[in-house]
This record gives sequence, C-alpha cells and structure tokens, in this order.
Amino acid sequence: MPSSALYRPLESGNGTRSNQTSTGVRPSFSGGNKVRSLWPKTANSRRLFVVVLILMTLLIYVVWSAVLNDAEDSRGSYGSTTDVLDNKLANESPTTLCGESFNDTRLYIQDRPRQEWANLSTIYFVTPTYPRREQVPELTRLAYTLLHVPRLHWIVANDHNACNPYLDTLLNRFGIPYTHLASPMPQRFHKAESKPRGVANRRAAMQWLRQHNITTGVLYFGDDDNTYDLKLFSEIRDTKHVSMFPVGLIANYGISGPVVCKGKVIGFLDSWVAGRRWPVDMAGFAVSLSYMAEHPNASMPYKPGYEEDYFLRSIGLTLDMIEPKGSNCTEILVWHTQTKNHERTMVKLNHEYLDDRSNLGALFKALSDMGVSGASDSEGQKAIISKNGKSKPLGYFLS
Ligand SMILES: *[C@@H]1O[C@H](CO)[C@@H](O)[C@H](O)[C@H]1NC(C)=O
Ligand SMILES: *[C@@H]1O[C@H](CO)[C@@H](O)[C@H](O)[C@H]1NC(C)=O
Ligand SMILES: *[C@@H]1O[C@H](CO)[C@@H](O)[C@H](O)[C@H]1NC(C)=O
Ligand SMILES: *[C@@H]1O[C@H](CO)[C@@H](O)[C@H](O)[C@H]1NC(C)=O
Ligand SMILES: *[C@@H]1O[C@H](CO)[C@@H](O)[C@H](O)[C@H]1NC(C)=O
Repeated sequence: MPSSALYRPLESGNGTRSNQTSTGVRPSFSGGNKVRSLWPKTANSRRLFVVVLILMTLLIYVVWSAVLNDAEDSRGSYGSTTDVLDNKLANESPTTLCGESFNDTRLYIQDRPRQEWANLSTIYFVTPTYPRREQVPELTRLAYTLLHVPRLHWIVANDHNACNPYLDTLLNRFGIPYTHLASPMPQRFHKAESKPRGVANRRAAMQWLRQHNITTGVLYFGDDDNTYDLKLFSEIRDTKHVSMFPVGLIANYGISGPVVCKGKVIGFLDSWVAGRRWPVDMAGFAVSLSYMAEHPNASMPYKPGYEEDYFLRSIGLTLDMIEPKGSNCTEILVWHTQTKNHERTMVKLNHEYLDDRSNLGALFKALSDMGVSGASDSEGQKAIISKNGKSKPLGYFLS
C-alpha cells in the first residue's frame, strides 16, 4: 500500500525527538549550582550557564519548527483510503456555477441531423482546466473536437476562485450543452511541491452530477490538452461498468493501458506502478453513471499520482469488470499531448495608444481577457512596432 509508506505518525515522531533532547541536555544543566539561586557564583560557571541557556533556546526553536513541519506534512499526505477520500475539503473551497446550457443548437453532427442521434446515451465529458496562457487555445481546440460528438454534455471546471466570464462567452459560441464551474483547489495545496491539480475540479463535476440525479450516461475525464480520436466517443458510449483503453504519449513507454488476453484485461502496462492497483491514466477509462450511482461514496483523493487509483477503488472496481475498448486495446484513441506552460507576459506599451485608432486596444483587451498577456505603461518587454524593417515609435503611426 502506498499510503502506509507515506503516512508518518505525528505522535511517535515527536516523542522520539524530544526524548533525545532531554537526555542530551539535562545532565549538564543539573550539574550547575541549583541550591539557592539559579545564577552561578564563579565567572566560569556563569559563562557556561549562559552558553547552556543559548543552546537550550536554540534546541527548543529547532524542535518547535520540526513539529510545525511535521504537522504541515501530515496535512499534505494521507494515511488511509478514508482520509484520502475525505469530503471535508469540499467545504473549504466551494464550487460556483458560472454558466450552463442544456441546449444543443448544432443542426448537423458528423453529416447527420442532430435528431438522428437522439437515441444515444449522453457522455458527460469532464474537463478540469486552470488559468494560464494556454487555457483558451486548449479549450478552443478541444471544443472543435467535441463539436463532432453527438449527445455530449461538457462540464468545464476551472481552478479559479471566481467565474471567468470570457469562458462563458467562449463555451456559448459552440452550441454544445455545457456547465461551467469555478472549482478552486483548496488553499492548503497551493504551496505543495506537487499539486493535486484537477482534483477539486473533478470532484465538483461529480457533485454536480449527483445534485442533478444523473444516473444514466457515461462519465469521462478529459483534460483540456489531450488529443481525442472521435472513435473514442463511440467506443465508450455503451460502457456497462468501467471501460478501459490505451493512452498514448504517457511517460517512459509512450503508452499506458491494459494488457488484454482473450478479450479480458489481465494486467497493466505502465512504467510507474508505485503500488497502484489500477495504474492507468485519467484519460484511459470511462465509467457508466448507473454503475457509479451504486457507489455514492465515489471520490477522488488530493494525492498527486494516485487520483485514478483511489477513484477506481472507491467505485469498487474489479479486474473482471473492465471492458477493453479500441479493438481489445490495440488502438490508441486518446493521446496525452501536453503544451509547455509559460508565464503570462507583460508588454510595455503606453495605454494612450490602446484606443480605437488601431487594432491594438481591442487586441490587448482580448489577450488580457484570455489570460495570455497584458499591456503596461511601465512593466514588461518594450513593444516594438516596425515598418520597412525599421522599428518606429508608436507616435509615428498614431498621432
Ligand atoms: C435553444 O436553442 C433553440 C435553437 O437555437 C432556441 O430556439 C431556444 O430558444 C433555445 N432555448 C434556450 C432555453 O436557450
Ligand atoms: C432509436 O431507437 C429505436 C427504438 O429503440 C430504434 O427503433 C431506432 O432505430 C433507433 N434510431 C437510431 C437512429 O438508432
Ligand atoms: C434529486 O433527487 C432528490 C431525492 O430524490 C430530490 O430531493 C431532488 O430534488 C432531486 N434533484 C433534482 C435536481 O432533480
Ligand atoms: C476481442 O477479443 C475477443 C477474444 O479473442 C474476441 O472474441 C473479440 O471479438 C475481440 N473484440 C474486438 C472488438 O476485436
Ligand atoms: C459511504 O460512507 C459512509 C460514511 O463513511 C458509510 O457509512 C457507508 O457505508 C459508505 N457506503 C458505501 C456504499 O460504501
């Protein structure tokens, strides 16, 4: 079990440490003159007394900060499955419903009128996303894939403590039914070395599904930077319990997925096992919502690397239950493509030029709304505008 290795009992750890300090220091302290007054008589023993006092203070400080560190650690890592799936954190960072539409305004999907697809069960496609330069481009690219998928409800959960109205404008344009949630990661994880990204978002989406009593259809966790083959959607749509399939571009092997023998999943190919019973990628499985309804405690841990494993444990998955997809897991229908993250940049460009004399005002407003970059009078790299290969001051063009 990975959990037991990570779990450090707080009590015993401190006990050992403070025992060591007391045995190490007390003998020299009690060796001083302690009968009438604590202040020693000779200069030498006074010096010793002061040194001992300073050492004691230092020791107390060291032990105290060690205790504080331990407390931090034990809050970050979790002891058992029940701790890991603790739902108290949900109250700490509440979810906001930012925008929603159940209206599918697409006339045609894959060259057929939308009504012809009406029979299909709905796929709830859950996309955790977070503000960064790449957010809007990634969501745009994904949206143009999802436009080809009939009977889909897109749950976009943004790791942000406020609603971003730009995302509603964007999502509305496509005519795909969607729900936009603001689901910030709890504050305590902001300083963590490896952050449990996307967990608060996926939890918020599951909570939304529960609140709406949705017990038919299929749940799929689809990150905003993956690449999806349209066949993936037809493959997972008839998931009875849990379907699984390979994900391309994962870690060392460039692949992660089930090993299938005679139509049955018998094991997993993934370069990072780390004690995981279900060593699969988030994009490598889909769950039927009627099956999930039988497991009301289904949840996802705030534990980087173990999100999939504990989630699949929380729905009581067994090996014989898994439905291999993509021609017995021989096809790659989803890819873990990743874009490099870059810091949001500032461009030094005086605000007096950001008006309607040129496109620059509207352009930089859009870039700022999308969280890509911004213009500043004083900060950032100087904006260079050129003509005929020569840079010119903006006043040259706009005066
Ligand atoms: C749904 O879309 C149709 C077609 O565009 C439109 O007529 C209708 O008013 C929309 N309904 C809602 C609730 O937005
Ligand atoms: C929809 O379902 C009905 C009844 O189950 C079936 O007769 C019909 O062929 C289905 N339509 C499509 C487009 O699959
Ligand atoms: C979901 O079901 C519960 C209990 O049956 C009911 O109280 C609640 O109103 C339902 N919610 C919705 C959105 O239908
Ligand atoms: C998967 O393998 C089983 C057993 O060999 C076979 O019966 C089945 O047709 C295969 N499925 C697909 C979709 O190829
Ligand atoms: C869900 O959790 C509650 C409280 O921890 C527990 O009493 C209940 O038995 C659990 N239900 C299932 C189906 O595991």
